Amino acid sequence: MADGGDSRLDLDRLFGHFERKVFPLHGTFLLGELALFSFTGIVATGIFLGLFYEPSTTTVTVNGEELPAAYASVLQLNGLAIGQLVRRIHHWSAHIMLATLVVHMARVYVTGAYREPRDINWLIGTGLLGLTVLAAFVGYLLPFDQFAVTATAIGYQIATSVPWVGQDLANLVFAGPFPNPQTVPRFYTLHILLIPAALVGLISVHLLLILKIKHTQDPGITGRLKQQAGSVKKGLVGIPMWPEQVVVMIGVFFAYATGVTLLAAFVPVHPIEVYGPPGGSTPAVKPDWYLLWVYGILRVMPPVDVTIFGGTIGARFLAGVVVPGVVGGAIASVPIVDKLVTGSEVDDRDYTSIEHPFDRPGRTAIGIGAAAFFVVTAVAGYYTELGIPGNTMRALIVFVPPAVGLVAYLGIKERFATRTPETPSTVEEEH
Ligand code: HEM
Repeated sequence: MADGGDSRLDLDRLFGHFERKVFPLHGTFLLGELALFSFTGIVATGIFLGLFYEPSTTTVTVNGEELPAAYASVLQLNGLAIGQLVRRIHHWSAHIMLATLVVHMARVYVTGAYREPRDINWLIGTGLLGLTVLAAFVGYLLPFDQFAVTATAIGYQIATSVPWVGQDLANLVFAGPFPNPQTVPRFYTLHILLIPAALVGLISVHLLLILKIKHTQDPGITGRLKQQAGSVKKGLVGIPMWPEQVVVMIGVFFAYATGVTLLAAFVPVHPIEVYGPPGGSTPAVKPDWYLLWVYGILRVMPPVDVTIFGGTIGARFLAGVVVPGVVGGAIASVPIVDKLVTGSEVDDRDYTSIEHPFDRPGRTAIGIGAAAFFVVTAVAGYYTELGIPGNTMRALIVFVPPAVGLVAYLGIKERFATRTPETPSTVEEEH
């Protein structure tokens, strides 16, 4: 092995191949990397937490007090200076990952980088976002305090609301009527094994596809590089993986590590000792920002009660399953809808160039309208606290998103109608 195993594995050839991979010169292409680093941060801190966490609700006695083992183990973690910090890094990394995914997805959307042949990566990405939200949801139960049980009960009620199969479905996911002693072990397996394994698998395919299909690139940057080079070359323009992109990646990693450590040092996560173990009074629970929109819809959905073939379609099912399902389906089908609307073919331009958001005002306006939908429905999660009457809130949900989209459309058209689209990349670069 004097040659580091190269004679057996031909590593030089493998690394030689990756070394020359080209990365685009646009800051927004670093969002995917940020998502990747926050995921690795979650896994690393999760392994540490797993050394202390007890996935059981069996009662243990701590300082003369009877407590569920899971709750007691998180209290013990909180008591350790490093345990408290790692728990917070784990929590805030999840928020950073989800926020980064949303912005990463938005950048892919507004630039049309989801078009063929990257539509498959868009689909995989939609799955990644859904799985990440699911991982966060099941993670919430694990400290097994009163807050966790109340929040998870909302998910349980949504599952039971599915017509015909609701109770069976809920029993399968929550290991029987919730809460019961098997729910925590089941959620723990989902949280540390099944969902992360699925995430790792999908992330790997996502990244392999990027290597295979290559990134898109900004036609403006490509054009300028072409002028500088003064020559016509072929392929993707940018910096090579080694050493430039690796240096950039190290920078992104440290930016994440610094940001999350500062957050963890100064911003606490929800205090389980304040909520106490399950059994006390039900706290006023609001989900985190990424599920607040579903909660808002649940709160304002008018009562519905339709029975078909013995199954009941109620407000909870519509708000908690149908609306999120339609939203998820709409996101997943963006590339198909785009193709149907524009009838665009895969040509050289589609393959390499992103589109400027203002060159497709309709698409950008729909994105802005969708963002308004998430904001208004999140506000609905607080409508009584804000003193907004129920009917006004429902009207806002129906009318604000299309109005915002329309204003955005007219604004882009009016302001940027004369914009000259960037010349599509016809540069032939070395790769
Ligand atoms: C764990 C989650 C994810 C990770 C780690 C990840 C990682 C990455 C990385 C490193 C890139 C290349 C750099 C860049 O374009 O930013 C990328 C590109 C891409 N991602 Fe993701 N991503 C994730 C989730 C998503 C989601 C939620 C979507 C959308 C639904 C998505 C769709 C895409 C597409 C279409 C590309 C190609 C873009 C292009 O070439 O311009 N990804 N991703």
